[in-house]
Amino acid sequence: MSKIGDIVGKADWKTEKHVPVIDCPGEVKADQMFDVKVSVGKEVSHPNTTAHHITWISLYFHAEGEKFAHQIGRVDFSAHGESTEGADAGPVHTHHQAVFTMATKKSGKLYAVSMCNIHGLWESDKDIKVA
Ligand SMILES: [Fe+2]
Repeated sequence: MSKIGDIVGKADWKTEKHVPVIDCPGEVKADQMFDVKVSVGKEVSHPNTTAHHITWISLYFHAEGEKFAHQIGRVDFSAHGESTEGADAGPVHTHHQAVFTMATKKSGKLYAVSMCNIHGLWESDKDIKVA
């Protein structure tokens, strides 16, 4: 039996341009809001053209001891140079990064998933400890 995880790429973000990078504190206070910045291409930039771009990033949190994960949020990146003049002739591009603000009562793990319109799904994760 196959799982969605079988087709989600995982690699070192320092060498693979599709992997979402999670920037946030590793240790937080219970119930206190903190920012989680998720970006693609922090070290190796990813194209942002009409033909090739990141379409969305989704962020999940799995609290220790819980059966299910929670979705923190999802951001769609909708402008990639489209125009009536043709591909890449448009004036607008959305950059593929987002900041989510969240709080948790429990330690756990963040999972970020990004989607490239050509190269599919990519993931990364980061532990969050509640002090
Ligand atoms: Fe790509």
